[in-house]
Amino acid sequence: MEKYIIQGGNGLYGRVDIQSAKNSVLPLLAASVLTDEQVKIRGVPAIADVENMLRILTELGCKIRRSKSCAVIDGANAVSHEIPARLTKELRSSVFMLGSVLTRFHRAKISYPGGCDIGLRPIDLHLFGLKRMGVKIVEENGYVICSAEKLKGADVLLDFPSVGATENIMLAAVKAEGVTVVRNAAKEPEIIDLQNFLNAMGAKVRGAGSSTVVIEGVKRLHGVEYEPMGDRIEAGTFLIGAAICGGEIETKGVYAENIAALLHKLRENGCKIYTKNDKIVLQSRGRLKSVDLVETTPFPGFPTDLQAQYASLCATAQGTSIVVENLFETRFRYAAELKRMGADITVRGRAAVIRGVERLHGALVTANDLRGGAALVLAALGAEGQSSVVDLSHIDRGYADFEYKLKKLGAKIKRVRV
Ligand code: EPZ
Repeated sequence: MEKYIIQGGNGLYGRVDIQSAKNSVLPLLAASVLTDEQVKIRGVPAIADVENMLRILTELGCKIRRSKSCAVIDGANAVSHEIPARLTKELRSSVFMLGSVLTRFHRAKISYPGGCDIGLRPIDLHLFGLKRMGVKIVEENGYVICSAEKLKGADVLLDFPSVGATENIMLAAVKAEGVTVVRNAAKEPEIIDLQNFLNAMGAKVRGAGSSTVVIEGVKRLHGVEYEPMGDRIEAGTFLIGAAICGGEIETKGVYAENIAALLHKLRENGCKIYTKNDKIVLQSRGRLKSVDLVETTPFPGFPTDLQAQYASLCATAQGTSIVVENLFETRFRYAAELKRMGADITVRGRAAVIRGVERLHGALVTANDLRGGAALVLAALGAEGQSSVVDLSHIDRGYADFEYKLKKLGAKIKRVRV
């Protein structure tokens, strides 16, 4: 196991180039089995979730060529429709392979992706959409077994604007017979990226980014070369870090409108923020003011994936903040660790009440999930004294070169084996 040793107190200064979005690259990789031609995705981040998705594609029979920044997927020899349990366990978002494997093979088998560190993560909306399209689904012995003589276009109204369910239905609909309409679809920017990718393969998808996505089935999809959007959550993580530590950073590669809800809150906290094209500059000086309430909601609301990181900022802001997590059941696990650093945080159900203290102090803390782990690193960077953050496997799932990028900004952080 590895840990970070962090010496708090340094301001953060400089520019950070943002990686391609994990939550876009994953569905794009799933979509690469929709064609037997070569798919090249540029700027693929070296993170564990991506490596696991590439392993799944290899298991299906795809040939993968990986360089530092590109992934080339040759799906010509894809033969298997089964996604192995040991890999689904590692990567529960592999569930949206169902849509693309069904389109390719008209059958798919995946072990039921259980809950994870942040919640139950049901897949009922995914299965509801696939059933509407004529997919026969049997759930037995912990497996979801799908088959469809023919995928038929359907009108699918989602009870909740689920990102994964929207993506799965899009992947199942691109070569279905007829037109599929997804209503109450997720509006996250990653859905637009998937639409652009699919259309570049010859699909006919429109409406992504709105609550109604329309997919007209086509006969064939061809290979593509594509550069995914920047990771808005990585950008938000660094911006919150600079707000906490003080200083001035510029993120490159993410458009302000993709994290507008966060930027709005950071301005209320007293940060100065300037944006131009895909550059965001944040200046932070002195103690931040608290905001009364932050509620996570689907896009364009405040992103759940930045909730933990923002709570670390609230821990030393002047005043009391209430953070409400509306999407996942157990996304406050970082709170107990922040308390070890001196935070005054009380969690009741879906709400955390955070009374800002002057300064946190260093401590030994444990990362329990991806974004909670990032939140602890940010808190440690702003704290007095030395901290250790152990179990970096969670952080490695979503942040490439995290300590390297932070060091370049002036942070005192090093990675050591425990
Ligand atoms: C995606 O997860 C992201 N993951 C998550 O990022 C992100 O937190 C989430 O969207 C919300 O933005 C990827 O894109 C790989 P959902 P997903 O389906 O698709 C309920 C990270 O840290 N729901 O929009 O699983 C569910 O319980 C990760 O990068 C159902 O009830 O999210 C939750 O309450 C974490 N039934 C809500 O919807 C379903 O069938 C949001 O889930 C599906 C979801």
